Amino acid sequence: MTAQHGANPLRDAADRRLPRIAGPSGLVIFGVTGDLSRKKLMPAVYDLANRGLLPPGFSLIGFARRDWEDEDFAQVVHDAVKEHARTTFREEVWQQLIQGMRFVQGDFDDDAAFETLKSTIQELDKAQGTGGNFAFYLSVPPKFFPQVVQQLKKHELADAPEGSWRRAVIEKPFGHDLTSAKELNAIVHEVFAPDQVFRIDHYLGKETVQNIMALRFANQMFEPIWNRSYVDHVQITMAEDIGIGGRAGYYDGIGAARDVIQNHLLQLMALTAMEEPAGFDANALVAEKAKVLGAIRLPKDLGLGTVRGQYAAGWQGGEKAVGYLEEDGIDPRSKTDTYAAVKLEVDNRRWAGIPFYLRTGKRLGRRVTEIAVVFQRAPHSPFDQTATEELGQNALVIRVQPDEGITVRFGSKVPGTSMEVRDVSMDFAYGESFTESSPEAYERLILDVLLGDANLFPRTEEVELSWKILDPIEEYWDNHGKPAQYPSGSWGPDEADEMLARDGRSWRRP
Ligand code: BG6
Repeated sequence: MTAQHGANPLRDAADRRLPRIAGPSGLVIFGVTGDLSRKKLMPAVYDLANRGLLPPGFSLIGFARRDWEDEDFAQVVHDAVKEHARTTFREEVWQQLIQGMRFVQGDFDDDAAFETLKSTIQELDKAQGTGGNFAFYLSVPPKFFPQVVQQLKKHELADAPEGSWRRAVIEKPFGHDLTSAKELNAIVHEVFAPDQVFRIDHYLGKETVQNIMALRFANQMFEPIWNRSYVDHVQITMAEDIGIGGRAGYYDGIGAARDVIQNHLLQLMALTAMEEPAGFDANALVAEKAKVLGAIRLPKDLGLGTVRGQYAAGWQGGEKAVGYLEEDGIDPRSKTDTYAAVKLEVDNRRWAGIPFYLRTGKRLGRRVTEIAVVFQRAPHSPFDQTATEELGQNALVIRVQPDEGITVRFGSKVPGTSMEVRDVSMDFAYGESFTESSPEAYERLILDVLLGDANLFPRTEEVELSWKILDPIEEYWDNHGKPAQYPSGSWGPDEADEMLARDGRSWRRP
């Protein structure tokens, strides 16, 4: 048989083996004094520059209320880079980057500040050769999105001058339900055309998440069993050991389901369940992901098929951790979920009747994100039952983070004179198989924005379909009591274990 390369959906990606380097451009960050900006965005810009993936005159403009000069801003970027960048600090790279760094001080309703932003962009076009190409990164609370995009329109910053581009990058959460997401979409699209808008779901920028597609569609051996005939169920876990930290203002009233199930976990589910896309371009990918999201079926009884929890005081990593209601800035009567688990199904020929259990939580046993495809048991066993009854089910586990890789669990004969079978695992670890290092998700996504590559960015349609899934769950929770308490450092409320036990299953303890 000859190998067939004709219909490989990843061929476009393979063609991109040459380094993808951004052309003349700049980035404006609104909300530049925030956590995300310091921990992720500034370090990502530096790492890209350090890897030679930014153009020589690349420019970075910070926009915030703080009374800073350009030098103060540069110092903040410097400190953030030193603390959080992935690559080694090199003075020559820094010196080049600093040439294009500017700070614009102002409120979002301050017309003069937006005029200053405009003249700063014009100045950088001349001094740094940015060619009028600028991306506006809205790293601001969602209530400011409308105001910032309106200001960009009013001051003619959203319209690209002839021969150049302007793009808007929008951080989640994109709305807090379907209605508000639609309103936001309408506001954003009044100013920016769909191909100018890049919505960030940073999970899609993770190497291991992109590898779901390589695993499934660049190989022959997984796809034939990736369906209801062989799979028993799928578990998608995103566990965090941290609490809400200093993010009370953002988190309270939002909760775990809106914060990460609506976006990261449903995206992971869509990538796991979707059909092979016709190509690796945004249109083809969105089409397949949207089909899955549109076919998701909620549990008939939301009381039995969903669980929400809230962390109580407990011990974590040998230290005493306070409960959610005792955290600074949290209303002691808050009903916000810090843990959420849902049982979903996909109504299509491949998956009908197969549960996808999604769970996420803060202050759980440890930080781990994984997708476990758990297979049905062998239809019969020729071996002595007593020797094999402890066997688990075969599973393929995509370890998204940390300890990135893939594990396959299966039964194997225990060395010896009897036919005893025991579970073993076969591991692929990125660190052992590749010398290349993985870029941070934000590095990849910022570069994609500058290149205008929209493959890894959810579209309006996906965002809205995801809210359609979540809205009835949130509404049910609003009308039914309070979240169950779970001790910090545990694996969530007992109710979540009971939910799986009713189906004769149990959660993995990663
Ligand atoms: C963000 C959520 O999207 O993802 C946070 O808002 C969460 O609550 C974070 O902590 C986790 O990201 P990562 O990449 O560390 O898994």
